[in-house]
Amino acid sequence: MASGRGSNFQAILKEKQKGNLPDVEISHLIVNKRKAQAIKIAGKYNIPYNIIESKGNTRTEFEKKILDIFKEKNIEIIVLAGFMRILTSNFINIYKNRIINIHPSLLPAFPGAHAQRDAIEFGATKSGCTVHFVDEDVDSGPIIMQASVNLEKGETENSLSAKILVKEHQIFPKVLQLLCSNKIEINDQNIKISSD
Ligand code: GRF
Repeated sequence: MASGRGSNFQAILKEKQKGNLPDVEISHLIVNKRKAQAIKIAGKYNIPYNIIESKGNTRTEFEKKILDIFKEKNIEIIVLAGFMRILTSNFINIYKNRIINIHPSLLPAFPGAHAQRDAIEFGATKSGCTVHFVDEDVDSGPIIMQASVNLEKGETENSLSAKILVKEHQIFPKVLQLLCSNKIEINDQNIKISSD
C-alpha cells in the first residue's frame, strides 16, 4: 500500500527481479492517491493495482474496499510503503502481525510525519530507518530491523532523507523476505529472527 513516490515499492520489486526474494510474491498494489507515482511503477512491473481514494469514502467504506480485494486475492502480508493514512484498529487486527511499515528514523525516536526534520532540529548525530510491525498506534509496534546513518555538519532535511532512503531500500526487502519465509517470530513486543 502506497500513497506517493513508491521508491520502496520499487526497491522491493527490483530485489524480487534480482532473485533475492524467493519467498515473496508481490501480488497487488493499493494506492489511496490518484497521482501516486507508485502506480507507474506497478505498471512497469505488471503488478495489478487499485486506486481507492480516501476522499468520498467513510473510513469504514475505504477499508472495506481494500479488505475485500485482499480477501479475494488471498493477501497474507501487507507492506505499507509510504502509505500516508492511518488504519483503524479493526483493519490492523484482521492482519495482526502481518502488516509492516517503514519509518525514516530510529524509532522510538522521532515518530510522525517529519522524522528527518525533527532529527536535525533536535541535534541528533545519528538517525536512520526502522521496519516495524504495525499496531494501533502511529509509528509504534514491535521493531524488526533498523539501519543507521550519521548526521554531518550542515545536514539538511533533503540530504538526510536521501541518505536514509538508501538504507530503507536495503532493509525493507530484506525484512519482507524474512517474514515471508517465516523467519520472524513475535511474542508480544519481542522479535526473534532466525538466521538459518
Ligand atoms: C519513506 O521515507 C518512508 O520511510 C516513509 O515514507 C517514505 C516513502 O517513500 N514511510 P517512497 O514512497 O517509498 O519513495
